[in-house]
Amino acid sequence: MSATLSGLSRRGQVPVFQATRVLAAANALEAAGRDIVHLEVGQPAGGAPQVAVAAAQAALGTHPLGYTESLGVPDLRRGIAALYGRRYGLDLDPGRVIVTTGSSAAFLLAFLALFDAGARVGVVEPGYPAYRNMLGALDLVPVALPVDGATGFNPMPQHLAAAGKLDGLLVASPANPTGAMLDGAALGSLVDATRARGIRLISDEIYHGISYGKPAVTALSLDPEAVVVSGFSKYFGMTGWRIGWMIVPAALVPTVDRLAQNFFISAPSLSQIAACAALEAEEELDARVAIYARNRALLAEALPRLGFRDVLVPDGAFYLYSGLPAGETDSEAFCARLLDERGIALTPGTDFDPVRGRGTVRFSFAGAHVRIVEAVRRLEGAPL
Ligand SMILES: Cc1ncc(COP(=O)(O)O)c(C=O)c1O
Repeated sequence: MSATLSGLSRRGQVPVFQATRVLAAANALEAAGRDIVHLEVGQPAGGAPQVAVAAAQAALGTHPLGYTESLGVPDLRRGIAALYGRRYGLDLDPGRVIVTTGSSAAFLLAFLALFDAGARVGVVEPGYPAYRNMLGALDLVPVALPVDGATGFNPMPQHLAAAGKLDGLLVASPANPTGAMLDGAALGSLVDATRARGIRLISDEIYHGISYGKPAVTALSLDPEAVVVSGFSKYFGMTGWRIGWMIVPAALVPTVDRLAQNFFISAPSLSQIAACAALEAEEELDARVAIYARNRALLAEALPRLGFRDVLVPDGAFYLYSGLPAGETDSEAFCARLLDERGIALTPGTDFDPVRGRGTVRFSFAGAHVRIVEAVRRLEGAPL
């Protein structure tokens, strides 16, 4: 990273988040009248569940919607704790649940609460780009842990050993962009390795609830010291409402509280009311996971047939990460061409893996099934 203009900070010069760049380009084409199939952003087509929208509508005009407690409204903190009982059989103290402005804010709070400038934090590659960009902007050092098919695209203790000294480790299961999941044994071995080396574990569990075989395991069930981050954007379909949460050890709560007070005052109050209601919408939300499963099956069948290589069929989340078709070597040029010529928006792999990602691309299949059918139809149109 280097400053491009005098007077601007060096650490502020984070790389572009390609998925949002592609989204902006796709939106511009749509504004000009083109029909674009959006497979670039991880945004559930269904939006917030009906009960959440109804709760927000009822609150408008009747509720003062002022600032809330910095740690979140007590009802929502209790509701999230109860979710850990239903999903994982855990008895979680709501006092350890902190409501944040999207899970993105939870990462910021976790990084600030746990690490001082210069701390080295392991991030899996390919992985969600905002981790390393946020770490860099905070003068922390993201240390890439490159994973591949040999470990099912999961980090293992040997990756930690190869990374040198680490102060923290960020894992996501299900992962973005690969959809890889750590089972209990694999997560347990990572927990043991991080504890043995004094490494703080941050577990991104935002895709929990969206898996196609076994349910995901929470790090909370294996390591009470782990910081768990999750939120309402994915399973709950509430991206724009900007509500996430973190579960932290009790001793960390006052520190995160002070940081949250100063950075955010509180998460949006209307959204917290809607999120509370969304916790009751599991039937509607599970029906969406069944649609993602159909989308996944369609792409898993079609992409190899259409020439895509090394197609990774995900265990969870709603992404399919794939090699480019033969002869293609530049994922950014490939995605630009696909958008321009076929009206299909995809995210180039360079977002997730700056080096190997030149040869890969990510399909998000969180959209309606008819749109995935349309994407396949457009890909079938002529040789790529
Ligand atoms: C792995 C992962 N973590 C976190 C986020 C951020 O989500 P939020 O909307 O809760 O800030 C995303 C969004 O795509 C993601 O893919």
